[in-house]
Amino acid sequence: MSKILVTGGTGFIGSHTVVELHNAGYEVVIVDNFANSNPKILNQLKKITGKEFQFFELDLCDEAKVKAFVDQNADITGVIHFAAYKAVGESVQQPLKYYRNNLYSLINVINGFNADIDLVFSSSCTVYGQPDVLPVTEAAPVKKAESPYGNTKQIAEEILQDSCAVMPALKVISLRYFNPVGAHATALIGELPIGVPQNLVPFITQSAIGKRGPITVYGNDYATPDGSAVRDYIHVVDLAKAHVAAIRRMESKKASSNYEVFNLGTGKGSSVLEIIQAFEKSTGQKLNYTIGARREGDVEKVWGDVTKSTQELGWKAELDINEMMLSAWNWEKYLKDNPF
Ligand code: WQD
Repeated sequence: MSKILVTGGTGFIGSHTVVELHNAGYEVVIVDNFANSNPKILNQLKKITGKEFQFFELDLCDEAKVKAFVDQNADITGVIHFAAYKAVGESVQQPLKYYRNNLYSLINVINGFNADIDLVFSSSCTVYGQPDVLPVTEAAPVKKAESPYGNTKQIAEEILQDSCAVMPALKVISLRYFNPVGAHATALIGELPIGVPQNLVPFITQSAIGKRGPITVYGNDYATPDGSAVRDYIHVVDLAKAHVAAIRRMESKKASSNYEVFNLGTGKGSSVLEIIQAFEKSTGQKLNYTIGARREGDVEKVWGDVTKSTQELGWKAELDINEMMLSAWNWEKYLKDNPF
């Protein structure tokens, strides 16, 4: 049985990917330092899968500890690397914290495995900035990042591409996520924002449950049908399944090169106001919102062309906006009765 290391495996997308790897028959080992996640997620994963996953608390910025970990786990056949800081606003205030953490950890993982590993990298549609053509394909130019966070994703992709060019035993698939939302159907794992949620959907669910006030819609003067900004929202479980497909692709040696990039979205754009309406319709919960100023650094509209992922990864998003909203709401209700 293949053994997959999931770094950041107690985080939002990481934890959902652990479940899908387990369901697909993989042995999983998790590494995390809980910088942006909660240790209780490990118990939640056991409740969902019945499995007590091997877990190591480890700061991936510590090169010696990473090497020692890899030496003690020589049977790892693949890595899915989620571990990174991801708060766009915080990255503007603390750039060096982001460059150090997000890039040192990646370089230590590559070196720890002596660049002889199948690696799936957690990238982001942020690398596209505001695309010139929509839907945006993987061939679109990478634009100047709007934040140090987005820049760490761009630099990480360059590090991986340059390394793969001279290290044939390093096989990499970079997955460019659009907007991950929702939660596992059991409502036992989901998004756990620290403090006031920066992202739209967790703010919506916290507002609906009474933890936050009205939602502020950041701008309704964009060149979009209802004036609010458009994104490609994708269910986190669909996203998790794409990581299993990426590992399988590398194991099957079907990859056209040892460095590939895939968009992970639904191929459909939804505006902020449409998401608010979809949440109300799916859950029956009335939302209060006000229209505010645009948020610095936001792009106007972005949604992905997912043809390549469907044709070559053999993956397609299956869960719709209704399931995204309902699962996010069920998770928020679970948290109210079971605070972490
Ligand atoms: C979505 C839309 C906001 C909150 C970010 C990262 C990206 C990825 C996903 C990690 C925007 C609007 C939001 C609110 C609002 N993360 N909004 N009121 O900014 O598209 O992407 O998260 O990989 O890298 O950049 O997601 O959920 O913050 O915003 O109107 O209270 O909702 O302006 O149009 P975003 P988001």
